[in-house]
Amino acid sequence: MVDKVQKIWIDGALVDWDDANVHILTHTIHYGLGAFEGIRAYKRQNGQTTVFRLKEHIDRLFDSCKLILMKPEYTREQIMTACTEILRVNKMEEGYIRPMVFVGEGAMGIYAPNNPHRTTVIAWKWGAYLGEEALKNGIRAKISSYSRHHINVSLAKGKIMGQYTNSVLAKREAKLGGYDEAILLDTNGYVSEGSGENIFIVKHGVIYTPDLSCSILSGITRETVITLAREEGLTLQECRITRDQLLLADEVFFTGTAAEVTPVREVDNRSIGEGAVGPITKRIQSRFFEVVRGNDTTHPEWLTRV
Ligand SMILES: Cc1ncc(COP(=O)(O)O)c(C=O)c1O
Repeated sequence: MVDKVQKIWIDGALVDWDDANVHILTHTIHYGLGAFEGIRAYKRQNGQTTVFRLKEHIDRLFDSCKLILMKPEYTREQIMTACTEILRVNKMEEGYIRPMVFVGEGAMGIYAPNNPHRTTVIAWKWGAYLGEEALKNGIRAKISSYSRHHINVSLAKGKIMGQYTNSVLAKREAKLGGYDEAILLDTNGYVSEGSGENIFIVKHGVIYTPDLSCSILSGITRETVITLAREEGLTLQECRITRDQLLLADEVFFTGTAAEVTPVREVDNRSIGEGAVGPITKRIQSRFFEVVRGNDTTHPEWLTRV
């Protein structure tokens, strides 16, 4: 259960948690058209709360809206302000922020071009998405029987609500099979991403991750990790990855706002490397946490003070 907070921002107003409801004829509930984001705010070692890469998340929200021909009624600046305000009014020092743009009630049927485009920003407390143990010792993943959407079926660069049924099905299949997370291949059989994470593998000291022409979300943590890895002097290539390359990797890890940097220690019952968290994953993970909540101030442009 999500811990209840006091207020939720809806269409420019702060509404009590219990009153933050929508009508059952809300178009998005029926057809899934809408865009959303997931953003984290961390309390840093100096006591300040900062939102991580807020601008990039709101830019992606607007990109997602553009892809699905939706126009938020609020500007980027107004939505960014709502993201920091929702933390302040709820007295949250850390948390997960969920902005959404969705199609409201009015007409039914698929087209409904004149229904309002509504905006909301919610915040809640969220610890480690896959658990503290996962961050420390890694997870077991299953290659899903579901493929990631073909690039002509959906718009993978958009964080679009309806597309997530694919993720939910893959995640459920993995969990019901006794695994922690799913890895989806694309319709050509190449490694795509997790149900809500981008994926990286390490082989002979080189890091690889699917390039952006693959059916993947352009993850903000992915881009963060690419930057940090290169700053660390590590070699990183964006390219297609096959299932066997994945299974034979020395290290595998997931990245995502929710999952942060989560090591993968097993894929389809094969140990990855020694079956423990590898040295490059450890290095990237610890640098990531230093940047988001530690003393590393090399990227002040990524932090927005609350
Ligand atoms: C399908 C999918 N891939 C990747 C990611 C990671 O993206 P980010 O690092 O921007 O959170 C997410 C999470 O938003 C996701 O839902």
